[in-house]
Amino acid sequence: MKKYELIAPCHFGLEAVLKKEIDDLGYDISKVEDGRVTFLGDEEAVCRANVFLRTAERILIKVGSFRAETFEELFQGTAGLAWEEYIPRDGKFWIKKAGSVKSKLFSPSDIQSVMKKAMVERLKKVYRQEWFAEDGQSFPVRVFLLKDEVTVGLDTTGESLHKRGYRKMSVQAPIAENLAAALIMLTPWKAHRILVDPFCGSGTFPIEAAMMAANMAPGMNREFSAMEWGHVAGKRIWYDTLEEAREMVDLTVETDIQGFDIDESALAAARENARLAGVDSMIHFQRRGVDMLSHGKKYGFIITNPPYGERLEEADLPSLYTALGERFALLDSWSLYMISSYEHVERDMRRKADKNRKIYNGMMKAYYYQYIGPKPPARPKRPAEESG
Ligand SMILES: C[S@@+](CC[C@H](N)C(=O)[O-])C[C@H]1O[C@@H](n2cnc3c(N)ncnc32)[C@H](O)[C@@H]1O
Repeated sequence: MKKYELIAPCHFGLEAVLKKEIDDLGYDISKVEDGRVTFLGDEEAVCRANVFLRTAERILIKVGSFRAETFEELFQGTAGLAWEEYIPRDGKFWIKKAGSVKSKLFSPSDIQSVMKKAMVERLKKVYRQEWFAEDGQSFPVRVFLLKDEVTVGLDTTGESLHKRGYRKMSVQAPIAENLAAALIMLTPWKAHRILVDPFCGSGTFPIEAAMMAANMAPGMNREFSAMEWGHVAGKRIWYDTLEEAREMVDLTVETDIQGFDIDESALAAARENARLAGVDSMIHFQRRGVDMLSHGKKYGFIITNPPYGERLEEADLPSLYTALGERFALLDSWSLYMISSYEHVERDMRRKADKNRKIYNGMMKAYYYQYIGPKPPARPKRPAEESG
């Protein structure tokens, strides 16, 4: 079996969550850097990482890395990589995205065109042909330069992994599915604990939580670009991976997951998305303003992203956050986790967070405010948990 170095980009600030996920899948991590985790795996790992990782953005096969301060060095470095190991004679290939940080070369379009030319030159020599029809399978390439070190990866994912396939109906400012999953994973919430999102919008937090509770792999209902690359991972491996994912699903698990929102159209989207994800039976959605937030039980979790000023008509953020603070104060023994870019969260909540963590929501700086409640008393273990 061939060993690959696989690169999984993720949201800045959430590398540790992704690292743990990769560890749990059983792969050896070789490097953790800002916004990406590199690990080692075979062709099965390409499939399993795409299907099972909740917090990665995509999975790249590292084709190579080299230093380049000039376009000539970029050309030579690119032409020196063994593209023929991945791209067949009729393959369609292009540099899908180029990113550059603290490097001499920074123009994405120039980097893209120089690298494409270098790839063509390499393949011309290897395949002994002058012209490529490029009418076969697609091989998108991604490249990033950091301090003049060029890292080149072949994109096995295609459409970003945050697209699970369930969000057909959107609202304004939805949170990315992989970011929502990572934020849930940063809390001690488990399937048997209560979870409420009082600003649920299109339902991302409740749906991601329900998928975790049901052990439902995030990528089991979508396609990936490497599914067509029989020479990298054959159809059988994809089939086995998807079978493994299907066998793991347990929709009978009991949950108390709720999503509230003041906007009926957001709730319609949330219900439809939950249905498409196959977890609608596990979530209760209801129209309710945050000033009516309540729950009869103890030790629950609020995990949410409230409005943070993305719309002009939501200018009254102080009273919204104050209402959340007041309702939260009435929820005895609850914890609250909230991502927001609004700068007066703690002032208006009238309570300082116990912990606070900087996270990038795309390019926007946000903080993950954590108000940590007490742990519930230990619950008696079910026989299955004892034997396992
Ligand atoms: C940033 S969006 C949440 C997006 C959501 N996480 C998603 O992925 O779609 C904030 C949501 O808060 C809702 N909202 C605004 N004011 C509210 C209020 N007073 N009570 C409850 N929900 C409210 C909006 O309708 C909007 O759907």
